[in-house]
Amino acid sequence: MTIKDRISEKFSALFSGHGAIYMSAGRINLIGEHTDYNGGFVFPGAIDKGIWVEMKPNGGKSARVYSLDYGEYAEFGMDEKDKPSSSWARYVFGVCREIIKRGYDVCGFDAVFSGDVPLGAGLSSSAALESAFGFGLNDMFSLGIPGFELALIGQATEHNYCGVNCGIMDQFASIFGKAGNLMRLDCMTLEYEYYPFAPEGYRLVLLDSVVKHELVGSPYNRRRESCERVAEKLGRKFLRGASMSDLEAVRADISEEDYKRARYVIGEEKRVMTVCDALQKGDYETVGRMMYETHRGMRDDYEVSCEELDFLNNLALDCGVTGSRIMGGGFGGCTINLVREGVYHDFIDKATVSFASRYGHAPKVYDVVISDGARRIG
Ligand code: GLA
Repeated sequence: MTIKDRISEKFSALFSGHGAIYMSAGRINLIGEHTDYNGGFVFPGAIDKGIWVEMKPNGGKSARVYSLDYGEYAEFGMDEKDKPSSSWARYVFGVCREIIKRGYDVCGFDAVFSGDVPLGAGLSSSAALESAFGFGLNDMFSLGIPGFELALIGQATEHNYCGVNCGIMDQFASIFGKAGNLMRLDCMTLEYEYYPFAPEGYRLVLLDSVVKHELVGSPYNRRRESCERVAEKLGRKFLRGASMSDLEAVRADISEEDYKRARYVIGEEKRVMTVCDALQKGDYETVGRMMYETHRGMRDDYEVSCEELDFLNNLALDCGVTGSRIMGGGFGGCTINLVREGVYHDFIDKATVSFASRYGHAPKVYDVVISDGARRIG
């Protein structure tokens, strides 16, 4: 049974009849990590894994929501005081509240949802959840909220209801993703451009270390604070646009740790631009080189990698993989790998065997299919 069929079956069992069905996607990011909240560029795309939700107005004032994956039900009103206790329900509640705060009406509704984005793998299951509900409520109640605003609503949900001061990349990709395309998003202006991505002779594959990353209450927010402190020292709103010589000029006034965080971000800005040029020329060797550099920066300067991810990255290098790096916020999750067809099977076999013999379990392998973002599917 497909996820769509499973939520439909549960919906009609719990509530009467059927509602509209929406899907929103998880994301990958080719390059540009921890640049979004620094006003920089990112290079994400939506994937074929996501969250499906069936929903229907219930004529009342409360939301009645069932999570098929957790096997849990939550019912809540739309006022601030009605905040539910379970963490998944807080995402849904947060989306409703952020819509209401912007002056739109959210009436009572029934919903059942489920998904196949692995949790804590750095593929933005939470953005997919926020976008599926944001997109669905907007469509179902004909609210007329533009896509940009839906992405900001998802981000504000993370900030105000889930404790993660994330950037805009995940929610943006989840809403605006387009099959076969990555997008270069300027996180300062929210201008974006699609880049068709079908590198002939190469594959994009994710290796999930299955080390769970948990951004809530994590050092993620501290990374952001470091960047903000350095930007302030430089008299800027964001680190975006700062040069290494700007950074050197304030080195004596900032901590060594903040210096390293900013050095990574400034380097990453350059790498995103290099990758844009390289993609236009079909130069995937350069793209791959930049990915390895990003990994080193995230490992040594930003310090968001972990032993398992470094192990996978080294394996990729040994197997002659074109590019490999930790993807997403870090602290666990996946590496993203740009692999020539000719070395693909050898790489996957070696990675599976050596990772398993070292850590007692094989990494999960996900072939990337770049897909559409939020949409109605039934
Ligand atoms: C998480 C956040 C994003 C972004 C990435 C790192 O996925 O939600 O906003 O900062 O980490 O690039």
